[in-house]
Amino acid sequence: MGWNSWNRFQTRIDESLIRDSAEAIVENGMRDAGYRYVVIDDGWEAPERDPAGDLVADPERFPSGMKALAEHVHRLGLRFGIYTDAGTRTCAGYVGSLGYEFRDARRFAEWDVDYVKIDWCNAGGLGTRSVYWKWSRAFRAAGRPMILSLCEWGRTRPWEWAHRVGHLWRTCWDIQDTWESLTTVLDKQRGLQTFAGPDGWNDPDMLEVGNGGMTLDEYRTHFGLWCLLAAPLMAGNDLREMPDDVRRILTAPELLAIDQDPLGIPGDLIKQWDGSEIWARPLADGSFAVALFDRADADREIALSWDDVGLDKKTRVQVRDIWERRDLGGTDGGIALRVSAHGAAFLKLTPEGSA
Ligand code: GLA
Repeated sequence: MGWNSWNRFQTRIDESLIRDSAEAIVENGMRDAGYRYVVIDDGWEAPERDPAGDLVADPERFPSGMKALAEHVHRLGLRFGIYTDAGTRTCAGYVGSLGYEFRDARRFAEWDVDYVKIDWCNAGGLGTRSVYWKWSRAFRAAGRPMILSLCEWGRTRPWEWAHRVGHLWRTCWDIQDTWESLTTVLDKQRGLQTFAGPDGWNDPDMLEVGNGGMTLDEYRTHFGLWCLLAAPLMAGNDLREMPDDVRRILTAPELLAIDQDPLGIPGDLIKQWDGSEIWARPLADGSFAVALFDRADADREIALSWDDVGLDKKTRVQVRDIWERRDLGGTDGGIALRVSAHGAAFLKLTPEGSA
């Protein structure tokens, strides 16, 4: 969990934005809710490497340098992340790392970096497995534990092999701040659940919550479904001026507990009909998290039967609404709830005798 500069700021970044965002994470309660990584995405580099061949931060936008910025972030009790590209140039046209993997990993370690996102632009003709494997060895040689975030957009089915080299892997192209993009990204996640778990996660891309292109209901759906998917939660909005209703979504405690559930089994689509979808994941305490998701453009009732999640219909189940943080009581057979258009009800189902 953390924050990344890309979705909101693209390459319009500098050290005061990063510093202010890190401070905001502490002040607005996000750090205490679990958000730890402050990640600078594309656009931080100077136009050229230095004469020794090392990457350099843009001296005008990052005059204090990356080591000082990392120190500031660490002092706030947070971790520091950075971005590079496996090819010759980053997606925004900055210097890439191809052929400099060991040198760049060493430099990141010298800067006390904790997390590196490695993109895949301008890497034509290269094999993802061998290049990311090289990075993995470069991290080890650099001698500092750093999270390796693979970003080849799901092109070579990283869920099948990337847990050997890194910690998370993008499963799809970039998310945009629109409903259409959100549902397209979501559909790409189906069937990938068995590949992810502790230490190796499917990454459906960073959050757009609070960036203005969707309604609050749609952002709630976005956030809740990402928690059901056990997704890495990287906030992507401007934390320096965050309205309270956005903060409440990003820090919803019972949703975050689902995302971070120690069993680490991501949810999957278990049923769909006519624009209604049910997503579910099993949890460590024997209960289930379930989303009743209304993809259609009108409110509707969505019904869930206990056998949809593999329970005997006769089981008595305690139902809790984890957005509203309200117990709905014990029920036999199933439950039906009214869900608003593009909204979702997020429930925790605890079969009696399981917890
Ligand atoms: C790619 C990645 C994005 C972002 C940009 C930066 O598109 O998928 O997440 O890092 O590059 O240019």
